[in-house]
Amino acid sequence: MKLTDIWGIMLNNRAKAGSQQVLEKLQINNGDVIADVGSGGGYFVFEFARRVKNEGKVFAVDTNTDLLRFINKRSQKQEIQNVVTIVADKSGFNLSDENCNLIFLRNVFHHIDNAEVYFRNIQEHLKPNGRIAIIEWLNQNGANGCHSTSELKICKVMETAGYKRINSFDFLQNQSFNIFVLNSALAKNS
Ligand SMILES: C[S@@+](CC[C@H](N)C(=O)[O-])C[C@H]1O[C@@H](n2cnc3c(N)ncnc32)[C@H](O)[C@@H]1O
Repeated sequence: MKLTDIWGIMLNNRAKAGSQQVLEKLQINNGDVIADVGSGGGYFVFEFARRVKNEGKVFAVDTNTDLLRFINKRSQKQEIQNVVTIVADKSGFNLSDENCNLIFLRNVFHHIDNAEVYFRNIQEHLKPNGRIAIIEWLNQNGANGCHSTSELKICKVMETAGYKRINSFDFLQNQSFNIFVLNSALAKNS
């Protein structure tokens, strides 16, 4: 077994905690288009794929091509048709012409260099009422914070990038979980 496969399996085992409650809160519909940015071993990719069914699509987006290969292998083995892997770079990703109902990032925010610019750039991948869900470490057991981001900072970044928070949940241990929409979506719906 390759080292990346072990890493993928480890990430997937870690992603399980609280995941069913997360999926419930995300209210995914049959036919939705979802991008899991920083998809790692793909735990959420395959949970999303089951829920959007064959009418929907899930983009597994990652900078790590070995992890994307790990996801492709599982898709092929299980004959899953609605998962597409996308190689990202640090400044963003390209989804051809598809727009998403949901962009999901779990424990990835701290990896993003210029988050304000990044989240402004990826607005183009959202449908008008699309949502961005961000789960992030609050702190890593008192470590230096480089693998975590305060909830306040996430909200400030997202506000500057043109989003408004519509939901916040605190059931995950040591992780924030916030959902944002574009300001323009709120203006249209009000
Ligand atoms: C801590 S892992 C989290 C994986 C997965 N989201 C999970 O919760 O199990 C962070 C992932 O983000 C990816 N990553 C880092 N920077 C990225 C970027 N700018 N765009 C997309 N993916 C990125 C890494 O390759 C890695 O797969």
